[in-house]
Amino acid sequence: MKQLTQLQDALGPELAEMNRIIARSLHTPNRLMNDIVSRYLQTKGKQIRPILVLLAAKMFGNVSEDVLYAGAALEMLHNASLIHDDVVDETLLRRGVDTINARLGNHIAVLVGDFFVSNALAAGIHTGRINVISALSDLGKELSLGEIYQLDNARSHEFDEQSYIAMIRRKTASLFMHCVRMGAEVAGAPEELIPPLVRFAELLGLAFQIKDDIFDYFPNPQIGKPTGNDLREGKVTLPLIHALAVAPEHIALPMRELLLRGELSDDEIASLQKFARDFGGIEYAENYMVRLRDEAFSLIAPFPDSTSKDALISIFSYIISRDR
Ligand code: IPE
Ligand code: IPE
Ligand code: MG
Ligand code: MG
Ligand code: MG
Repeated sequence: MKQLTQLQDALGPELAEMNRIIARSLHTPNRLMNDIVSRYLQTKGKQIRPILVLLAAKMFGNVSEDVLYAGAALEMLHNASLIHDDVVDETLLRRGVDTINARLGNHIAVLVGDFFVSNALAAGIHTGRINVISALSDLGKELSLGEIYQLDNARSHEFDEQSYIAMIRRKTASLFMHCVRMGAEVAGAPEELIPPLVRFAELLGLAFQIKDDIFDYFPNPQIGKPTGNDLREGKVTLPLIHALAVAPEHIALPMRELLLRGELSDDEIASLQKFARDFGGIEYAENYMVRLRDEAFSLIAPFPDSTSKDALISIFSYIISRDR
């Protein structure tokens, strides 16, 4: 956490300016919308995505107004995906506060999420750059397809590692990749340096979602959102996928049957969590993140030394060791 606070502090003025752009963009004459938006913006998340935009830009140039608008657009799109995700996942708590769906119902939450998407597009258009607009439209497709794949996997009871990785690449890593690409492109990075940096962000995004999914296997009041929820929804993530693959059949079979049946009680969720832990699922997922990190570090090693490069390296370490 200290690592993240240090990074946020180092980028303080730029992040503050970007947050002002977000607040201005989302302001309208409608009182209900303003109440919802200002309440929402009071509790910020970690802002990892705009941090990536800023770091990638600083690596190759300066933080121009277009970089700030691109960062604002990507953070608003991320927020939209969370507002909608909480409807899809029926989640009542995020960032330690009530979700919009919890307080005002799904109807309003869906509309507010749409409002965030449209404002993300408007912030992209403000840059006048077709690559920014095209990234946002690509992402809109990727994020929703990722969520659809997840629901589809849950329904068809596909519990394999490959489908899981393909799904988290879409729903989470794609945003990280576009953040880095946007920052680098807008700042005028040499073309040949962009693909390794984007791959770095892909590995970071995959590790980020694997870590988020590990949280689901333990009680954790610190993260400000419920745990055990993925399993309740039939969403089987890496630790459990691994346990199902390695456990002896007479132990794995009843677990599969539980998942096939759905509608799980708290005790059944606890027994799935325990099963995943007992069969090395957490260690497996942690080792997986370490492998992603090692590949990422070797990709970034040839880049010239800079504070941005150091910061990207420290974000990766933070992400796989974070406690919220
Ligand atoms: C949550 O993202 C959604 C996932 C991809 C797991 P974050 O954990 O970055 O959310 P905030 O913005 O910091 O709340
Ligand atoms: C959400 O994944 C990823 C998105 C792209 C919205 P999760 O459903 O795991 O996110 P949390 O745990 O609710 O933040
Ligand atoms: Mg979800
Ligand atoms: Mg969720
Ligand atoms: Mg999650």
